[in-house]
Amino acid sequence: MRIRIAIDGPSGSGKSTIAKAVAARLGFVHIDTGAMFRAVALCAYRSGKKWDNESEVLSILGGINIDIAYVQGGQRVYVSGEDVTDAVRTAEMGVGAAAVATYEGVREKLLQIQQRLVKSRNVVMDGRDIGTVVLPDAPVKIFLTASLEARVQRRLNELSAMGLTHDVDSITQQMQKRDYDDTNRASAPLKCAPDSVMVDTSDMDIEQVIETILQIIKEKGVLDV
Ligand code: DC
Repeated sequence: MRIRIAIDGPSGSGKSTIAKAVAARLGFVHIDTGAMFRAVALCAYRSGKKWDNESEVLSILGGINIDIAYVQGGQRVYVSGEDVTDAVRTAEMGVGAAAVATYEGVREKLLQIQQRLVKSRNVVMDGRDIGTVVLPDAPVKIFLTASLEARVQRRLNELSAMGLTHDVDSITQQMQKRDYDDTNRASAPLKCAPDSVMVDTSDMDIEQVIETILQIIKEKGVLDV
């Protein structure tokens, strides 16, 4: 029986960083599902399709071949063989991802890929709907939150580490819009599953969050960590 750990939360809550670190500690595979939505947004952009036009986005879906592979323990995302891991990390692709993620057709395609990926391995999977839709039977579900200010600061740090600069106001606006879009969409919106444990990371550093999650996993009796 494979062990699945679901981590959901809003943008900038630290999900991917934390999920990656927890997976490394446990020797599990980390699956960042946001990168897949970002990859769809990138493909739409490159094909000249508008993110807010559902039929335009759906028209290219059949030709998109998304793959995940692991290089030195890190997830890489490929579109038709091209490594787009870094190209999808920009703030713009985050906005595009939130838009294309509202389309049932996009979610259905990515759900199939996500469910295939968890079949044969122990995973820590992060996203918005992992505990509610993708892995509803996961024995451990975590919902990570943090204040808007803390999340904006983290995103600015992430962008500056990539050599990209953005001002606080535009990132705040983008994040508020993303929160709204993610929480209010009809299909698989961001929400805390009833059996999720909520962790507010506003005043925690990465190590504290990792330790908190490992403690939750231990308390659930899923494995000895
Ligand atoms: O986690 P992220 O910032 O990379 O996610 C980008 C967008 O993708 C996010 O705003 C909403 C969407 N998303 C989703 O709808 N469901 C997921 N499981 C993961 C991401």
